[in-house]
Amino acid sequence: MKHPWPSSARRIVLAAGFFSVATLVTTLLAKPGTAPVPAAAAAPLNGGAEYVGEAVCIACHAPQNKQFTHTQHANVFRLNPKNEKEKVSCEACHGPGSNHLKDPISPSNHSALVGFTKGWGTPVAQQTAMCLQCHEGGERMFWAGSTHATNDLSCSDCHNPMAKISATGLLKKPSINETCYTCHQQQRADFAKRSHMPVAEGKLSCVDCHNPHGATSKTLLKADSVNELCYNCHTEKRGPFLWEHAPVRDNCLTCHNAHGSNHDKLLQVARPMLCQQCHTNAGGHQSNLYNAGQLIGAGGGVSSRVLGRSCQNCHSQIHGSNHPAGARFQR
Ligand code: HEC
Ligand code: HEC
Ligand code: HEC
Ligand code: HEC
Ligand code: HEC
Ligand code: HEC
Ligand code: HEC
Ligand code: HEC
Ligand code: HEC
Ligand code: HEC
Repeated sequence: MKHPWPSSARRIVLAAGFFSVATLVTTLLAKPGTAPVPAAAAAPLNGGAEYVGEAVCIACHAPQNKQFTHTQHANVFRLNPKNEKEKVSCEACHGPGSNHLKDPISPSNHSALVGFTKGWGTPVAQQTAMCLQCHEGGERMFWAGSTHATNDLSCSDCHNPMAKISATGLLKKPSINETCYTCHQQQRADFAKRSHMPVAEGKLSCVDCHNPHGATSKTLLKADSVNELCYNCHTEKRGPFLWEHAPVRDNCLTCHNAHGSNHDKLLQVARPMLCQQCHTNAGGHQSNLYNAGQLIGAGGGVSSRVLGRSCQNCHSQIHGSNHPAGARFQR
């Protein structure tokens, strides 16, 4: 066994001390009426190792250090450390290193260091805890319980703080989109479709709409609902309108795909079928079924209801109308 009695006894005393401070803090911070959450006592990091300082690490890891030197962490930790945690440099993320030095190679000694690569075997929760020491809250307010956290992603699945690969954000790939596409291949295909949000063109990136660190929605949206998200940029669609079109208020995605589509204007379905998914029962022209003969060729069969913008040749204000006579969205 690695931990003889004296050290575990010390652990219990330390843990008890930590617990009473934690309880005091939670009690002080607790809002009236909310029960304080008991803090779990953490096991000593890296088997209770001591900090050795970055000079020792660099002696063996010179190549890694060369890359690391160009990163924001290296600059801050070395030139302008704000606190004790930042001063320990390499060990701020990898934890205290003295036990790693005793045997850096044997897999049985991997628990002597926090590693962020798959082969090293450090549990993901422990990896993220290292980063969250300094990066809790803010954008990561909803990390715990988010889709990515519950699927066991580690910060290092998207970030590589050991080298400056991206212009900003210390990402694993040169751009945000490429970072996401490593796992989300379907979305790469969506953004390559004929009509698509200008992501490849560089006008938008995934994080304009999603927060990869977690959000209140399962799909990690940066807004409370799909429509609120779209209104952020397409403000004119928010209205208010004198004549509202019910499905527009309900959900933009009833008619549009948020990423890309092979139909015009990101539409889910081509017109007139798009409209006729809902407008079929009432009789009259909206429930006519059109055939290819009405679309092409000379002669009397051609219908203005399928040519060009189809139903919108007449019902042009499909997102809503402010004209007193706009009940049919024609003006
Ligand atoms: C005596 C030389 C030596 C020193 C000093 C040393 N290491 Fe290592 N370290 C190694 C070797 C060798 C490996 C490679 C083990 C392997 O590939 O299986 C390694 C592996 C690692 C890894 C790899 C984890 C992974 O994910 O694969 C990290 C991180 C690491 N060391 C960090 C440090 C830090 C931080 C320090 C300073 C506290 C340090 N090392 C000091 C020799 C050293
Ligand atoms: C901000 C946190 C952070 C700091 C500071 C940091 N590392 Fe790392 N380190 C990581 C992460 C994350 C990875 C995994 C990168 C990846 O996915 O390839 C890693 C990987 C490594 C590896 C194994 C992979 C490789 O590139 O060979 C070594 C060795 C290593 N770090 C050593 C160091 C040394 C030495 C220092 C100090 C000079 C240091 N690290 C500082 C977070 C950090
Ligand atoms: C000891 C504290 C500390 C730890 C641990 C730490 N960071 Fe940082 N991190 C910082 C500081 C300080 C900055 C610079 C922030 C600033 O400029 O406002 C920073 C910046 C960043 C940035 C932003 C870079 C940019 O270009 O804007 C990313 C991304 C980041 N850290 C990710 C990580 C990840 C991933 C880990 C864990 C592997 C980690 N950090 C661990 C303190 C830390
Ligand atoms: C699914 C991918 C992904 C995961 C997982 C992830 N990040 Fe990020 N992170 C990003 C992207 C993308 C950015 C935006 C980079 C930019 O704007 O250049 C970012 C930005 C950041 C920044 C800088 C901006 C800010 O929020 O202050 C920090 C710090 C950061 N991440 C820390 C973390 C930490 C800590 C974790 C783990 C708890 C983590 N990230 C997990 C993708 C990810
Ligand atoms: C290491 C792999 C990986 C990377 C990199 C990654 N993701 Fe994910 N992502 C997942 C997994 C796994 C899930 C959950 C399974 C699923 O629903 O597809 C997920 C789920 C999601 C979801 C919710 C999907 C749903 O149907 O609920 C969104 C949105 C998302 N990721 C966006 C991003 C963005 C944006 C980035 C880049 C900043 C990114 N992901 C990077 C693995 C990854
Ligand atoms: C214009 C905003 C926007 C951009 C940009 C965007 N997304 Fe989405 N994404 C959405 C919306 C809206 C949804 C659907 C949410 C829902 O149905 O709750 C979605 C859904 C998803 C899903 C769930 C599965 C699916 O396809 O419906 C994943 C995964 C995803 N996005 C990844 C990405 C990635 C990766 C990028 C960048 C390459 C990206 N998104 C860029 C708005 C966007
Ligand atoms: C971060 C800003 C942003 C958000 C959020 C956003 N869009 Fe866009 N959208 C754009 C930009 C930029 C364009 C391209 C405009 C251009 O090229 O003139 C665009 C274009 C479009 C187009 C026209 C595509 C074409 O082929 O002409 C549609 C439809 C659209 N967005 C629907 C949506 C929907 C639905 C949502 C919500 C899921 C949404 N947008 C969220 C920025 C955004
Ligand atoms: C009932 C189906 C439907 C719904 C719901 C819908 N749209 Fe549209 N939208 C369309 C059609 C059809 C077009 C093509 C218009 C054209 O060709 O004139 C379009 C075009 C657009 C365009 C590009 C042209 C323009 O008018 O600027 C944007 C942007 C857009 N929609 C955003 C949205 C947003 C945001 C929502 C949610 C608030 C939404 N749409 C909901 C059917 C719909
Ligand atoms: C998801 C279902 C849905 C889709 C798709 C849809 N609509 Fe509608 N539409 C409605 C509903 C619901 C109303 C409100 C009906 C009412 O008030 O009786 C409505 C109302 C209308 C009205 C006014 C009718 C009236 O009786 O006042 C017109 C015109 C219209 N839609 C045209 C279109 C066109 C053109 C399209 C295709 C671009 C379309 N709609 C797509 C559901 C839909
Ligand atoms: C050539 C112009 C034109 C085209 C194209 C057109 N409509 Fe109309 N639509 C009208 C007019 C005019 C009215 C008003 C009729 C009335 O008040 O009796 C109307 C009324 C409607 C109404 C309201 C219900 C009703 O019968 O009064 C719906 C729903 C509708 N149209 C759907 C559609 C759909 C779906 C398409 C495409 C398949 C379409 N329209 C194509 C001119 C057009």
